[in-house]
Amino acid sequence: MTDITAFAFGLPKAELHLHLEGTLEPELKFALAARNGIELAEKTVEEVKATYDFTDLTSFLAVYYPAMQVLQTAEDFHDLAWAYMQKAREQGVVHVEMFFDPQAHTSRGVPFEAVITGYRRAAVRASSELGVSAELILCFLRDFPAEDAMATLEAALPYKEWIIGVGLDSDERDNPPAKFADVFARAKSEGFLLTMHCDIDQTGSIDNIRAVIEDIGVDRIDHGTNIVEDPALIALAKERGLGFTTCPVSNSFVTSQMKSDEIVRLLRDGVRVMVNSDDPAYFGAYVADNYVALAEKAGLDAADLARLAINSFTASWLPHARRDEHIAAVRAYATSHDVALAD
Ligand code: ADE
Ligand code: ZN
Repeated sequence: MTDITAFAFGLPKAELHLHLEGTLEPELKFALAARNGIELAEKTVEEVKATYDFTDLTSFLAVYYPAMQVLQTAEDFHDLAWAYMQKAREQGVVHVEMFFDPQAHTSRGVPFEAVITGYRRAAVRASSELGVSAELILCFLRDFPAEDAMATLEAALPYKEWIIGVGLDSDERDNPPAKFADVFARAKSEGFLLTMHCDIDQTGSIDNIRAVIEDIGVDRIDHGTNIVEDPALIALAKERGLGFTTCPVSNSFVTSQMKSDEIVRLLRDGVRVMVNSDDPAYFGAYVADNYVALAEKAGLDAADLARLAINSFTASWLPHARRDEHIAAVRAYATSHDVALAD
């Protein structure tokens, strides 16, 4: 009998839905505050964690953005990403595509260059020192005007080689995908891959999912599990081979459930769903912890977890040859644990 926790941690996997700013652990927050001469309202780790009292996406974001004030220099951004990548390696991650929110920093006067150079240095270091390949996805804040997103895209162009794609995050309410149609069309013409958050149980969730598929033409969808409400849309997503980056523990913080039924239904239906951590420092669970939480909640077995890991590579933006190598490693890992996988 395979120990599901040990299996989940050792399983080679890609993480495709991870906000670097959501990896800011309270201990690092204190260290960066001290380095930058910032006085924080909370004085202990326990006091910081006591503010993590989220009931929905909006209440989470109200805690998340102010915490970023401790991030000021390229070194700070490097240290944040490097701490995450070491943790990710311990959780079996061999490839990661990481979101970052430049506008959350440039709007406070931090230069775009400090953000991107710090994150990039950590990504390069992860590859050489940990054997973890790492890519960056620039996310626009959807509650900021579309003109700000376009200006951010233009500021990013000199660093194009360091950014694999663009995404859309922050508060979905009253900020539908269409608001950013021109920005995403421009990003696509510049060669960026496209993804967008379709957060859980938003007003108009299904209309937004339809819009990101049919009108924006995304390459992947972040969250998006409300698609279970529309079988025709599921068929379209399958036809296009779209990946859905689900985050079970995050779901249980911003709604009342992990949405495990929805995730498992999509998995069984052959949709490319996989499991990710979203904002692990805030939700108390990194990616392997999310595999275990979903397995325990939904009664998944080791073969199901291996399928999720395979989906994480199929839905990744790695070159096809690299995806195939990683998938072969998942299959070899399953075999070495006497876990049989279908083709
Ligand atoms: N920013 C960080 N995490 C997010 C999420 N899950 N949804 C929207 N914006 C976010
Ligand atoms: Zn997210």
